[in-house]
Amino acid sequence: MISGARHFSALAARLRWDPDAIDLAADVDSWRALEPGLRRRLTVLLVGFCVAEHHVADELGPFAAAARDPDMAAAFAAQRADERGHARLFDRVAALILGAPGQDARSRRQFVRALAPAAVLDLFERRLPQAASALAADPSRLVEGVSLYHLILEGVVLSAGQRALLAELGDGLLPHVRQGVELVERDERWHVGFGLRCMLDLRPEPATVESLVRQGEHAIDAWGAVVPADIRSRMLAQHRRRLAAVGLLPAVDDHVAAGGAG
Ligand SMILES: [Fe+2]
Ligand SMILES: [Fe+2]
Repeated sequence: MISGARHFSALAARLRWDPDAIDLAADVDSWRALEPGLRRRLTVLLVGFCVAEHHVADELGPFAAAARDPDMAAAFAAQRADERGHARLFDRVAALILGAPGQDARSRRQFVRALAPAAVLDLFERRLPQAASALAADPSRLVEGVSLYHLILEGVVLSAGQRALLAELGDGLLPHVRQGVELVERDERWHVGFGLRCMLDLRPEPATVESLVRQGEHAIDAWGAVVPADIRSRMLAQHRRRLAAVGLLPAVDDHVAAGGAG
């Protein structure tokens, strides 16, 4: 069973890490020596995360304000602290690994966003701010906000990007970048778990659940070819499994639903 919201704030405090302490500069020579095709695929994924983590950090404010109780508000605040750390990590990746020019994160982001897939930009630069503004204007729309933010953007799009990054990085190519991505992925697991907890409390309408399934199937393609088909089908199966775990969908046989992926 999914824990109460208070559990997630305590978990966040235990897991906290310092994005400035990861020695990314130690990976620069290895990055330059990568095979060009692999470097291009990794670049697409890393710039996507530079854009995405900035926006998820920036747009979380209205969620805490719309929370139904102080424990839920505290968990959103703890999540926001994580997202700021993730944004900081990927800005350092942009500066040190990708060589993005600029004196600050904002100017580096202008450089990296030009390399990001259009569908990723659309999700994080247009749809997420739209949902956050709607929530700021009307706090009763929290279920729609959590659906998009926690279950689609984090649970499907970013999860798929993390899986693809870790698969491309293997065990030893860029160990410090990998360490950062693994720490981000560990945080994202509780963020998605907290999103599911919110869904349990907020009791979405059946139409919202149906839309979550359809949106997941559409959003999984946002990364284009840098996320391979096997990862896409595994992530979609996981998306359905999560919705089933909180009783929003009937339990599914993953081997039927995902063509055997687990
Ligand atoms: Fe994040
Ligand atoms: Fe997150």
